[in-house]
Amino acid sequence: MTIYYKFFQNEINKKFYKEKIFFLLRESRLYREGNWCMRQGNHLLKKIKAILLAFSFLPLWSLGCSKEQLCPPTLAILSSRKKPLVNNTVTIEGVQFDKKGNFLNEAAVALFLENAYKEGKLPLSAFKSASCFKVTDYAQAKGLQTRQLFIIESKCDAQLARYILKDLAVHYQGARHLAHFYTIKEFEALIGPHMPPYPSLIIPVVFLKYGQHYMGLMPYASGRSLATFMEDYVKMNTPEAKKRVIKAYREVGKTLSIFHQLFMPNKGENGLEKTVIQGDFHHLNIFYDPSTKHVSFIDNEHMVPCLKHLKNPLKDIESLLSSVCFPHLIPRDIQETINIQKWLELMLPSFLLAYVKHYPSSQQEKVLHEIEKRLSEGKYKNVYKGYELKLLFKKMRKFLLTRKENNEK
Ligand SMILES: Nc1ncnc2c1ncn2[C@@H]1O[C@H](COP(=O)(O)OP(=O)(O)O)[C@@H](O)[C@H]1O
Ligand SMILES: [Mg+2]
Repeated sequence: MTIYYKFFQNEINKKFYKEKIFFLLRESRLYREGNWCMRQGNHLLKKIKAILLAFSFLPLWSLGCSKEQLCPPTLAILSSRKKPLVNNTVTIEGVQFDKKGNFLNEAAVALFLENAYKEGKLPLSAFKSASCFKVTDYAQAKGLQTRQLFIIESKCDAQLARYILKDLAVHYQGARHLAHFYTIKEFEALIGPHMPPYPSLIIPVVFLKYGQHYMGLMPYASGRSLATFMEDYVKMNTPEAKKRVIKAYREVGKTLSIFHQLFMPNKGENGLEKTVIQGDFHHLNIFYDPSTKHVSFIDNEHMVPCLKHLKNPLKDIESLLSSVCFPHLIPRDIQETINIQKWLELMLPSFLLAYVKHYPSSQQEKVLHEIEKRLSEGKYKNVYKGYELKLLFKKMRKFLLTRKENNEK
């Protein structure tokens, strides 16, 4: 009780939870009114659930966890010297803010970044002068975890460099948790741009602080979000757009499978085991670059609780496949025209088959069975109402079996 009381004494926490509760209430209304993944039930009950859900976030962000507490024994810890400084306060002389304490405009952000560079708080030559980089407000793309969002394009060096500057709604704890990624050995090879088969985890390379604002500066993910592939497909409806969707989801299925197995205690040799999951694996948080077949995960704050307790990988699978259930995740201009059944028929088989195919062949049948069970009995089962799930899994089983037999010959 005391913890909850103390927590709400803090103005920022109060504001954050007020916003979260309103957001969840609005979501429950959208569920009822929109015909997305309609679930029957008492609306009042849903409101209560939404409030409880909002409060359930509280212990994570309010209680500081030590480094040791955050890592299950399967993850090796590196020296904490590698961690970027979270309390990296920048001088705000000359920088203009609005009444809420946000940057007044893009020029204010540019000056802030230039100050940071001059003070040695931002040791990247891409920021050496505001005259060679451009800041663009990207507020229209931000979700709940973000207070301010900007794209930065820099021509200060020979090559064009693009960055995202994200003001973390969960301020200090969020930044501290993200910085923690740098102390885990297994993440070393995954942070920042590199080549497949592993995903790139886009994590801030530098944190910049003013007042109670903790901003993460990170590279812009290569390629486009999976949601934009959906947008193209719905708008164009051409065989080429269809092919691009299939390829993207196939690559994401494969990458997620490899990522999940990397952190499983038996590395996939025992089928699906608890592991590190992305935790907010919807189609806006996954980027795919067709030219390099490279998959990047952004918005990785939700991965942090998994570092404390490994989680069920089915959550990521379920989360991606049910992205269509949430109206706020569907690009606005296709909300009326998208045919969800058709969309599922397109992306589901390519994603699932690739995910399962990358497990050891002795485990594929078991993994497929567990996914089928989750999709047909889990909380989003109504998404697949008009869709022949049984038939799809039967076909996939047959495909995998034939492949296995051919391999054994
Ligand atoms: N590193 C990045 N590269 C490209 N786009 C990004 C990146 N980070 C954020 N974005 C864009 O900003 C949006 C919101 O950022 P995100 O980190 O997902 O925050 P939120 O928690 O608010 O969803 C994303 O959906 C994406 O369009
Ligand atoms: Mg996001």
